[in-house]
Amino acid sequence: MSDFDWGKGSYEPTAADLLPAARELVTAARIQPGEHVVDVGAGTGNVALLAADLGARVTAVEPATRLREVIAETALDRDLTVVDGTAASVPLPDSSADAILSNFAVIFAPDPAAALAELARVARPTGRILLTSWQPGVLSKLVGVVIAALREVTGSVDMGTPFNWHDPNALSDLLAPHGFTVSSRTLELDVVTASPAEYWETRIATHPLGIETLPVLEKAGRLDEVRNRVLHMLDENWTTSTGEVRLKAQYLLATAVR
Ligand SMILES: C[S@@+](CC[C@H](N)C(=O)[O-])C[C@H]1O[C@@H](n2cnc3c(N)ncnc32)[C@H](O)[C@@H]1O
Repeated sequence: MSDFDWGKGSYEPTAADLLPAARELVTAARIQPGEHVVDVGAGTGNVALLAADLGARVTAVEPATRLREVIAETALDRDLTVVDGTAASVPLPDSSADAILSNFAVIFAPDPAAALAELARVARPTGRILLTSWQPGVLSKLVGVVIAALREVTGSVDMGTPFNWHDPNALSDLLAPHGFTVSSRTLELDVVTASPAEYWETRIATHPLGIETLPVLEKAGRLDEVRNRVLHMLDENWTTSTGEVRLKAQYLLATAVR
């Protein structure tokens, strides 16, 4: 599951959910006009577009072909270059970025140490690295229902190297050898949908992760049961009297400076 195409299905509703966190990340990076900013795992360009609007020269690194096309179409006349790459393989020279930002993306790198070493390589000696990562909570409970069922069906689920991206000490262990000091704070993001059914459809079933995994559950005859369990969890815990789903998801915003 750590290596699949985020261009499949519809990532866009989740990108809209994550936009407030992208704003927090860009604000925390204190971007100056003319700086070279790299958005790693840019998705549809949440961070890249905001940074470019502040006058930065931006490189958006994104492995999914369709999402690169979405960024390129949206970029218009901004100073924004879109490139194919991953956190562990950024097609930029050593010491070429003033700020490297990653909004819920480097956390999908299968080898966290290799990914952070690569970001450290690309950062200038005075460069900074900022990333966001989910705290365990609401979203992991919901996704956990799907993952538990997948484990039962397939025996194992490839989640990459286990690494606590939400733990500042774990980040520090990997970044300190490259000369970085890590600081962090925990923030909260609201995810709102019109109903539990809309949440299932737009945030799970047609999300790239759902497109990748749900056919396995369907083939095993488990999809309806898993859907009902997720709907029940949403209904019991996070549905308001007007029928809306309102989730509050906590995340870590980490800043690493040399
Ligand atoms: C949850 S999305 C976040 C996208 C975007 N940063 C945003 O704010 O919406 C995760 C993104 O990470 C990208 N990704 C997946 N594996 C990656 C890796 N190893 N290195 C960099 N990006 C990766 C995906 O293609 C996807 O665009």
